[in-house]
Amino acid sequence: MPDATETTPETPATTSAPLADVAAEAWSGVHRGPLRVGEWVRLIDSKGRKHNFELTEGKRFFSNKGHLEHDELIGREEGFTVRSSAGGEYLVFRPLLSEFVVSMPRGAAVIYPKDSAQIVAMADVFPGAVVVEAGVGSGALTCSLLRAVGPFGQVHSFERREEFADVARQNVTQFFGGQHPSWHLQLGDLAEALPASGLRADRVILDMLAPWECVDAAADALTPGGILIAYVATTTQLSRFVETVRVHGGFTEPHSWESLNRDWHVEGLAVRPDHKMIGHTAFLCTARRMAPGEKPPRKTRRPAPGAYGADYFGPRPADLTEQSLEERDA
Ligand SMILES: C[S@@+](CC[C@H](N)C(=O)[O-])C[C@H]1O[C@@H](n2cnc3c(N)ncnc32)[C@H](O)[C@@H]1O
Repeated sequence: MPDATETTPETPATTSAPLADVAAEAWSGVHRGPLRVGEWVRLIDSKGRKHNFELTEGKRFFSNKGHLEHDELIGREEGFTVRSSAGGEYLVFRPLLSEFVVSMPRGAAVIYPKDSAQIVAMADVFPGAVVVEAGVGSGALTCSLLRAVGPFGQVHSFERREEFADVARQNVTQFFGGQHPSWHLQLGDLAEALPASGLRADRVILDMLAPWECVDAAADALTPGGILIAYVATTTQLSRFVETVRVHGGFTEPHSWESLNRDWHVEGLAVRPDHKMIGHTAFLCTARRMAPGEKPPRKTRRPAPGAYGADYFGPRPADLTEQSLEERDA
């Protein structure tokens, strides 16, 4: 007796019904089904060059391989190849969030997807969370944060430069296809604007030149157990931020790291790391907010000799004066 689930050439497998479009209330920035007018598509040519554009009825896309009509793409399911008038072949998909943020217009430098992913995971950004970020820059991280908190959360983005806030507003609105209900964009310097807002937050994310200037404001806004995370490009910024968090005293011991991504070439027997990689983007550092009046346990391990010696000029925890260290080392 043949298995009822078995298919033979005479009885072709039935194709199941297609998935309906993603619910608009999810605010995912994703669509399923046929490509529509007003949506953004990403075309990739045979050399890997990317072209992003908004589908418009009656419009043409031009490249060094001639042109093709937007109308040829509208109404088709993404994931196909088209040929332009001069024989160029293009792969057609909707852009992913990770692709959108690296190709969207920029005001300030963006946080790359590898670091946005680390921030969402390591700062444990959850659906429904209240998140504060500064500065908003071009809005790249904002898109990932809004995805993570969802329609029941809140992302409060502070930016002190109006022209960058405008770029971010345009990018985030384009990605989500409208004004995301969880997003609140505010102009101002976080160090002053956050205390003035009276906000309480589960997470505070700092991506700016001088995050140490915002540690007090972040500490006052963070709920006990909340997470402070900074994204900094240089070792000197990292050092100053970490020491400022230690001196504040209301956080757990800061944890600092960076992530390195290396692509691999996989072809037959030639399986090896790519020759090129992005060697450095930034360092990340997290610390958790203690409850009011509570201090983390004193570190039992002594700092490395010279760590806070005569050549060190940064912020210094109260128990690490030169004299106290000399006495401990004696
Ligand atoms: C590198 S960009 C942020 C990029 C953003 N995270 C993204 O992924 O697109 C840094 C931004 O922080 C802003 N900024 C610097 N210090 C600030 C502060 N104290 N308060 C608010 N914004 C600040 C700058 O104007 C700049 O737009």
